[in-house]
Amino acid sequence: MADFSYLAKELSILKRDNLLRQLLQIDSAAGCTIKIGNAKKVLFCSNNYLNLAEDHRIIAAAKDAMDKFGFGSASSRLISGTISPHVELEKAIAEMFNKKSALVFPTGFMTNLAILQTIPQKGDLLLLDKLDHASIIDAAKGSDAEFRTYHRGQLDRIEKFLASDKYNRRFIVTESIFSMDGDFADLEKLVELKKKYNAYLIVDEAHGFGCLGRSGAGLGEELGILNEIDIVVATLSKSAGCMGGFLAAEKSVIDYLINRARPFIYTTAPLICNSAAGLRAIELIKNAKDKREKLKQNANYLRNKLKSLGLNTGTSTSHIIGVIIGDNERTVQISKRLFENGFLVIAIRPPTVAPGTARLRISVQSDHTKEQMDSLCDAIAIEN
Ligand SMILES: Cc1ncc(COP(=O)(O)O)c(C=O)c1O
Repeated sequence: MADFSYLAKELSILKRDNLLRQLLQIDSAAGCTIKIGNAKKVLFCSNNYLNLAEDHRIIAAAKDAMDKFGFGSASSRLISGTISPHVELEKAIAEMFNKKSALVFPTGFMTNLAILQTIPQKGDLLLLDKLDHASIIDAAKGSDAEFRTYHRGQLDRIEKFLASDKYNRRFIVTESIFSMDGDFADLEKLVELKKKYNAYLIVDEAHGFGCLGRSGAGLGEELGILNEIDIVVATLSKSAGCMGGFLAAEKSVIDYLINRARPFIYTTAPLICNSAAGLRAIELIKNAKDKREKLKQNANYLRNKLKSLGLNTGTSTSHIIGVIIGDNERTVQISKRLFENGFLVIAIRPPTVAPGTARLRISVQSDHTKEQMDSLCDAIAIEN
């Protein structure tokens, strides 16, 4: 028998430090309310921001595609796995982001791996926000380019790296809405700097896509600077209610990835029904102005109410609201008691967030009702 006791030892340390993570089985769709066994819980921690994951039009698009194309794509994209829904989806994404071309991947994580380990090369610089998502950080760690980080607002540090003649090319990589704090990157400033230093700007709109901008293209669109972003990354796995990542960029970027990106070349193509559903989701997102407005109203209402209760919502200005508790054990306890009182809000702890900043990451959905938000606030207030 192989000896895995070294793993059990580490797990027991995680448990001791209130850092052990466990899977929770849910027995329904991820709407505003979910079922766990026979118990109903109000869900306040999913990324189903626009409630499209359970939308009947998206489900119908997936079913139609399954009837027409079967289920599995059975091959990588470069062999026999490029099926018409993939191509139609990529055309729709390119058009939405006003770029020449787009490419879809099975996950957003793989999209970041593919871009950051292929487009920036040896002798180049990858300049990341310290709080960029794990997929960006991990991708940068495995890139041949040198990788450096900055804290939000450290303009001197950013400029120091951008001005350095040590590098062939310099790539700034940022999320548009930060996934654990719910604040916005200063994209306008980054655009100014990228222009000043002739750098490239890559923006991950995972949490902005669908939620911001006239047609839902994200923060870049909302600020009117979409055309200044060289590579836009996002995922269909959050507001679009589907699955899979994508990027939109110049055709040469896409052609290069098709030829060189290992996470694109050496994996089976995304499920065809998922791409068909994604295409329908994009049509719905373009016309979801009312849902976006409702999401914003809900987020402002909930954040203000939490603040009025004396809770620390950190730097959040969006539909992601981190209620910072600090201590791991206390955060886990509050999350447990909220669960007993009918709410699912997971405790987010290090290493996902910095030590001492454990939090309840509350994410708002456009269909949450005022009553649901009020009762969540009441429950948190009692626990705090
Ligand atoms: C900013 C960001 N980028 C990328 C990803 C990965 O996307 P996906 O869940 O589609 O792999 C996520 C979410 O998990 C994210 O928050």
